[in-house]
Amino acid sequence: MAGDVVDLILADHRKFESLLRDVRDVEADREAALSELSATLVAHAEAEEKEVYPKLRRKDAIDKEEAEHGKEEHAEGHEALLKVLEIGDPDTDEFGEAIEELTKELAHHMDEEERTVLNPAKTEIAESVRQDLGLAFMEERQRQLDADCGSIENVRRLVAASDAAST
Ligand SMILES: [Fe+2]
Ligand SMILES: [Fe+2]
Repeated sequence: MAGDVVDLILADHRKFESLLRDVRDVEADREAALSELSATLVAHAEAEEKEVYPKLRRKDAIDKEEAEHGKEEHAEGHEALLKVLEIGDPDTDEFGEAIEELTKELAHHMDEEERTVLNPAKTEIAESVRQDLGLAFMEERQRQLDADCGSIENVRRLVAASDAAST
């Protein structure tokens, strides 16, 4: 069994923070940390959008605006991630600035999601449903990782698609 979807999402959020720390750390393998961050961020966001937000909507735990807002913030996060990937070289000032921006975007989104999405999921969704959702979340997350979802080409594609959708 994969586990409770709320616990799985929170574990990923902690993972993003620790990978960001590695990306900043001159003594870490920053490039490896960046590719892992890119892959887990994209896989996590896609799995939330495809499996978690729609189910919480159907159960009335979150409203349409909250689900839409979550997607918009994923798009903003992907845009900030793409800037980091395009710069690529961790030893440049531009890279540091792009990491600062990505850190801000993610911190804002995780704070909001934990308060306005995960809290209602904890109080309004039955434990058995959270377990089923956990499995669906992990399956989609794995499908994304298997398809190399964190590659720069895929992140470019996602950013272009959300730009097209918002105009
Ligand atoms: Fe999340
Ligand atoms: Fe999210």
